[in-house]
Amino acid sequence: MPQVIAETAIGTISFEAEQGKKLVLALEDNGVDILHRCGGNARCTTCRVEIVVGDVGAMGPDEEAILSTKGDLAPNTRLSCQIRCENDMEVKVINQASVAGIDAGTRPQD
Ligand code: FES
Repeated sequence: MPQVIAETAIGTISFEAEQGKKLVLALEDNGVDILHRCGGNARCTTCRVEIVVGDVGAMGPDEEAILSTKGDLAPNTRLSCQIRCENDMEVKVINQASVAGIDAGTRPQD
């Protein structure tokens, strides 16, 4: 199973993700209150993470389209709702409900 290391607002955590699981769900199920305001539909970008280490696969057209509208993001920015856990990775979580003071949003589908 892929090993995920995540830098979060409460420190760095590490866990084994279910093979092929969406990264946003793997993070949430391992205690990270990551935002996913559009429900995992590549529209809100609140679920974004920075990929520190690892191959998370190519971007799909929806992810590429929405991220291209945001000019001020780091080049290693990706949407965790569009990434499947297939390989080991290290990521930095950008938005968390407890920090933003808002509800995380509808849980994305598996
Ligand atoms: S872009 Fe909205 S949850 Fe991923």
